[in-house]
Amino acid sequence: MNKEMSKALTQTGPGTPMGELLRRYWVPVVASDEVKEPDGPQVKVQIMSEKLIVFRDTEGVVGVVSEFCSHRGVSLYFARNEEGGLRCAYHGVKFDRNGKCVDIPSAPELCEKMHIKSYPCVERAGLVWAYMGAAGTQPDLPELEWCLVPQSHVYVSRRLQESNFLQAMEGGIDTAHVSFVHRYEVDIDPMHVGTQALKYIKADGNVIFTIEKTDFGMTLYGRRNGDVDNYYWRITQWIFPWYTLIPPFGEHALGGHLWVPVDDHNCMAWSINYHIDKPLSTEERQAMQAGKGIHVAYESEKSFRPAQNMQNEYLIDRVAQKEKRSYSGVFGISMQDASLQESMGVVQDHENEKLLPTDRAIVMARRMLYEFAMETKATGEPPALKGKSHQIRAAGVLLPKAQDPLEWAAEHLIGGLHHPLYTL
Ligand code: FES
Ligand SMILES: [Fe+2]
Repeated sequence: MNKEMSKALTQTGPGTPMGELLRRYWVPVVASDEVKEPDGPQVKVQIMSEKLIVFRDTEGVVGVVSEFCSHRGVSLYFARNEEGGLRCAYHGVKFDRNGKCVDIPSAPELCEKMHIKSYPCVERAGLVWAYMGAAGTQPDLPELEWCLVPQSHVYVSRRLQESNFLQAMEGGIDTAHVSFVHRYEVDIDPMHVGTQALKYIKADGNVIFTIEKTDFGMTLYGRRNGDVDNYYWRITQWIFPWYTLIPPFGEHALGGHLWVPVDDHNCMAWSINYHIDKPLSTEERQAMQAGKGIHVAYESEKSFRPAQNMQNEYLIDRVAQKEKRSYSGVFGISMQDASLQESMGVVQDHENEKLLPTDRAIVMARRMLYEFAMETKATGEPPALKGKSHQIRAAGVLLPKAQDPLEWAAEHLIGGLHHPLYTL
């Protein structure tokens, strides 16, 4: 990838082509739980290089506003959250959840001039989502299945990744890596263990990929040997611009991810598990909270930095690597990914990469993002703005060798969530 394209895809601050494209979509900001109480402590976040404050006001409604007071730029992290807004701790200027200045003790008549930026926000799937695009261009709310199931059925966590969002997300699209770095982990992980899927995955490492460009993004079809009459297909989707779905493992909870830029050198990786028709069990929830599966343990409470991180070399265990208990020596599915992706540098040197045939999906995703980033400014209609287009499910299925998986998917996976779940 040349320098110009690399820059266009990895820079997401206000006014950049990619930043403008991503701002056309609803962005998860924090978990609703993080701002649980009306008038409770506000939270600081950074999204696409914009510093923001999230708070729940006296009426229990969440607001997402610029972090800084319009008076002399003090952080509203230190403000008092009370009586319908945030009052800056320095000179008492007060803002409501829409960023409107509602009081200046020393000069109330100047309120009109003092408003700060705010973004429309909603709560959905236990998360606070903001819309950071231009007014009047809001797309449908996300209708990914995990956003639609009852709260009891879903678990969502987030972790900070110290790399650009693109290389993190590419790990989610690049299903070819699963046979390597996660090879041994899936045998013991409580959310993968004991499934037929693993048997097929292990038995045939030579996956043959078919990629289909769709109106929501891309569907990836991975073919492995199944039995005499059938191939085993793992079918997964990339939903524009940053969602991926994980092909299922037996009866275990379904999974997905999304990656949101914090700035050009960091991103927030969101990991989701859910059942479509039953609550997560206590054991499942406990395992997720303990950082199993695609979740992680944190460095400290309230920090979203993983306990395994660059400074401690992700607690790499060379003995475990030798003994084939961990392929890279790092434990944990998400930390295996994060360690490798952070090792590329905060922004991968795209000019010097030498891509392989298994990178086709990534190349296609990059091209789509680039084309739409460049186009959005001009014409303004990127994919997956319609909620209905998110209503799709990944699958793991045995299909007769003569069966075209694209035709099968069109009939069994697309067009809503009324289909049975296909998993082995
Ligand atoms: S800096 Fe906020 S009130 Fe003065
Ligand atoms: Fe991975």
